[in-house]
Amino acid sequence: MSGGDAFREYLAALLPRVETELDRLLPPAATPPATLHEAMRYAVFAGGKRLRPALVALGARAAGGDEDAVLAAGAALELIHTYSLVHDDLPALDDDDLRRGRPTVHKRYDEATAILVGDALLTLGLAALASEPAGIAADRRRTAVALVGEAVGSTGMIGGQVEDLAAERAWPDDPARALARIHRGKTAALIAAACELGALLAGADAALRTHLAGLGERLGLMFQIADDMLDQVGTTVSLGKTVGKDARAHKLTYPALHGLDESRAELDRLRREAAGVAASLPRAGDLFGSLIDYLASRDH
Ligand code: IPE
Ligand code: IPE
Ligand code: MG
Ligand code: MG
Ligand code: MG
Repeated sequence: MSGGDAFREYLAALLPRVETELDRLLPPAATPPATLHEAMRYAVFAGGKRLRPALVALGARAAGGDEDAVLAAGAALELIHTYSLVHDDLPALDDDDLRRGRPTVHKRYDEATAILVGDALLTLGLAALASEPAGIAADRRRTAVALVGEAVGSTGMIGGQVEDLAAERAWPDDPARALARIHRGKTAALIAAACELGALLAGADAALRTHLAGLGERLGLMFQIADDMLDQVGTTVSLGKTVGKDARAHKLTYPALHGLDESRAELDRLRREAAGVAASLPRAGDLFGSLIDYLASRDH
C-alpha cells in the first residue's frame, strides 16, 4: 500500500465508531431549545473527515493503549473543531457560504444561531473531556482538559485566527514569521493536542507525550499548507467549500507568500521530517507514516 492507503483504511474503519460517539455526546435534536440542538447536529453530521479523532486514537495506540477507550475524547475534540469551523465561516471572519458540502450554519439558520452553535459545541466538548472517558485518574484528566483548553485558546487556535484576520487588512512586516505563527496557532495547536491527548489518556510518560506533540505540530503544519494549496488548486466539489476565497480576501497563506512550487517543497520537507519522528515511535510508526503520506497527497 502507498500514498496513505493504510491510514485511509484505518480512518474508514474508525469513522462509524466516531459517529456513534458524537451522536451519544450531542443532545437529541428534539431537546429544547430544539433549533439550537438541530443546528449543532447539522454542523457536526455533515461529512467531516474526522481527522482529529483519528489522531487521538493513534496517539493512544502509540502509547500501547486501547483506541476504543479514547473515542469519546476524540469525539469531544471533533465537537471543538466543528465549533471552530462554524465561527471561522461567519461573515465577520471568513464569510463563507459553503462548508462540508452544505450551506454554512449562518446561511442555513442565521448568524445568531451560528454564534451560539459554536459556543455550545465548544463548551460541550470541554465538558465531555472533563468526564469522558470514564476511569481516567483525576490528575491526568486535569492535564487533559488544560492541554486542550490551552491549545484552542488565545495563545493557540484563537491567537492564530486573530493574526490570520489581521493579515487580511495588511500583511505584517515579517510575513514569513507571522505565517508560521498563524499556521501553528490556528491549525497545528489542536492537531498536536489531539496526538498528545490520546497518549496522555492511554498513560504515556512525559517523554512520549512530548514526542507525539512534536510530531503532531509537524502534521498540523503540513495540514495547513495543504489546505492553503487546495484553496488554489482544489475543487469546490471535492473540498465541499468555496475555492479561491483566500486570494480574494488577501489572506496571508503559504502559496500566496511563497508560491505553489515552494509550498510543495516545504510540504515535502515537513513530510520527511515528520516521517523521521514517526519512525522513532515505539508503536504505531507505520500508521503515522501512512498518515504523513495521506497529508502530503490529500485532495480534500
Ligand atoms: C478545516 O479542517 C479547517 C482547517 C483547520 C484547515 P478539516 O479539513 O479537517 O475539515 P473537516 O473537519 O474535514 O470538514
Ligand atoms: C481555519 O483555517 C482554522 C480554524 C477553523 C481554526 P481556514 O480558514 O483556512 O479553514 P477553511 O479553509 O475555511 O476550512
Ligand atoms: Mg479562516
Ligand atoms: Mg476559513
Ligand atoms: Mg483554508
